[in-house]
Amino acid sequence: MNDTTTGGRFIVLEGGDGAGKSAVQAALVERLRADGRNVVATREPGGTELGERIRDLVLAQRSVGDPLSELLLFEAARAHLVATVIRPALETSVTVVCDRFAASSTAYQGYGRNLGRDLVEQANAIATGGLTPDLTLLLDVPVEIGLQRRSGAGAANHFDNETLDFHNRVRAGFLEIARDGAAAWAVIDASQPLDAVTEAAWRTVKSQG
Ligand code: TYD
Repeated sequence: MNDTTTGGRFIVLEGGDGAGKSAVQAALVERLRADGRNVVATREPGGTELGERIRDLVLAQRSVGDPLSELLLFEAARAHLVATVIRPALETSVTVVCDRFAASSTAYQGYGRNLGRDLVEQANAIATGGLTPDLTLLLDVPVEIGLQRRSGAGAANHFDNETLDFHNRVRAGFLEIARDGAAAWAVIDASQPLDAVTEAAWRTVKSQG
């Protein structure tokens, strides 16, 4: 990881709604464990008791309404997850695989809600204490395909009701962040069948660690 914490490897899955992150996370965790690694799987928002309560608030059917308040709720959940789960795991050489992390705030609140990248990155830096993933896999899928997949699975949240423009800003934001993040990011075509997405994700994880 990119700060003073030493030990485990920090892997994050990012992408728009319906990109298949949860299924790919489960497959990666299984393979890493079969490889003999000690792995913690977690998610954002959530991953701690407090974080899951914030998740219920922020993903409730009615949106928070004010974008800055929404951002700070995600950041509060993130700060708690980093302090109580992610850092302690990495410090004891455990591999952490997280479904979403700070780049989700940059993409959804920064680009989607138009709060701007700078402001969100400042908030991210405070919540994470400067911790950044060793590798982020961006599961990239055209918005129409992602939303279509979403409608068939999982609990709906108010982000599902956002406009296509919103979701297209989020997707473009993720691609820009990935481009700027260079070697610490890999973009995977998530419009492929899930097996192919999982294989591509696994190849990247193996080749970089
Ligand atoms: P979730 O059900 O986990 O969606 P998905 O299965 O697509 O990952 O819901 C998380 C939602 O919260 C998702 O729409 C993205 C949004 N989100 C933000 O807007 N900002 C954030 O910082 C995070 C972590 C998530």
